Amino acid sequence: MNHSLDRQHFRCLDKEDPLAGFRERFCMPDEVIYLDGNSLGPLPRSAPGRAAELIEKEWGEGLIRSWNTHGWVNLPTRLGDKLAPLIGADNGEVLVCDSTSVNLFKLAAAALGLAPGRQTIISEQGNFPTDLYMLEGLESFSASPARLRTESRENLLQAIDGDTALVVLTHVHYKTGALWDLAEVTRRAHGRGALVLWDLSHSTGALPVDLNQAGADFAVGCGYKYLNGGPGAPAYLFVARRHHGQLDNPLSGWFGHAEPFRFEERYRPATGVGRMQCGTPPVIAAALLETGMDVVLSADMRQLRRKSMALGQHFIDLVAAHCPEFRLASPPRPELRGSQVSFHHEQGYAIVQALIERGVIGDFREPDILRFGLAPLYTRYIDVHDAVMALAEVMVSRAWDQPRFQRRAAVT
Ligand SMILES: Cc1ncc(COP(=O)(O)O)c(C=O)c1O
Repeated sequence: MNHSLDRQHFRCLDKEDPLAGFRERFCMPDEVIYLDGNSLGPLPRSAPGRAAELIEKEWGEGLIRSWNTHGWVNLPTRLGDKLAPLIGADNGEVLVCDSTSVNLFKLAAAALGLAPGRQTIISEQGNFPTDLYMLEGLESFSASPARLRTESRENLLQAIDGDTALVVLTHVHYKTGALWDLAEVTRRAHGRGALVLWDLSHSTGALPVDLNQAGADFAVGCGYKYLNGGPGAPAYLFVARRHHGQLDNPLSGWFGHAEPFRFEERYRPATGVGRMQCGTPPVIAAALLETGMDVVLSADMRQLRRKSMALGQHFIDLVAAHCPEFRLASPPRPELRGSQVSFHHEQGYAIVQALIERGVIGDFREPDILRFGLAPLYTRYIDVHDAVMALAEVMVSRAWDQPRFQRRAAVT
């Protein structure tokens, strides 16, 4: 195959790309091909200015007055309302707060309270570990006798029965990118009287999600992946309006109180989704998340999804042509994948390290998965081409086969 001609074709695709202009809105080092925005989104160009404004003016000059004058106190609900259209939620159904892990715990515990007589929480074997760990914690923590049961993807739907209180699933699987049919699973679970909590960490900002059209109950997700909120950005949670008023937040901190600044002795929950807050919001981190969300909110999600599917298909085709030793770990059909492609290789860790040394940043997930995130707002078609060519070079030269690439860092 003539690579230079091929490369030209990818250049043309970039020229025709209606989303091409979005890349400018992020800081992206020239020498890097960044395929890890599914783990940590890049820095929005507007973030440093916003951080400086917040720190120097709102905090430095406004001091404590800024809780009122700059609306810090309303950040969780204001940003929640802003995020809502990205996930098919209405105003007043979303909060930006806490971490995904904490939000999952709060909602799972609260959901059990809506399902008297039912004890089982069903999740998927191989779901993202924090989801399972938090549910395991809930099992031993909760006064109610919650029982976690994990099922294979194939058996999961049949396992939902009259004892199932809640189904907890990650919409786009973190390793393989496999996509659950959110509406269909929700319908099947409801048909058996169970509630559903979706982890949208790998979905929001990467593909259209419509929670209310699906009749979904609860959702959580990360702010630092496709929403580009920065490392450790606050997460979000969704509660369908019909459940407001009946949910008991197990972490009943003062920000979930109806009137926190009355300093009442006893907890009295807020009426809406606000009751799912716990403590003081991380104002600086939330303001940075807003800059990342703003970029996503100005994109057309259908265009984004089309490009994401095309990038994935090109990646898979190029790997099949140039690196046939890799076995696809993601669903081959684009409509069944999120915005990433993953491959199995027993030397996956070392190969990813050798790629990173060449400026192609993907990541590795145990036991043998190479993961490449394809965020359509800043990933170009040419990046896909060049990344796979770098992968082919690493394989042909056996560049990965060096002791320094075997040493595991704390974060893989
Ligand atoms: C599906 C999923 N859920 C949750 C998390 C992380 O949650 P937290 O932000 O609480 O660490 C991740 C992180 O990669 C994830 O992939």
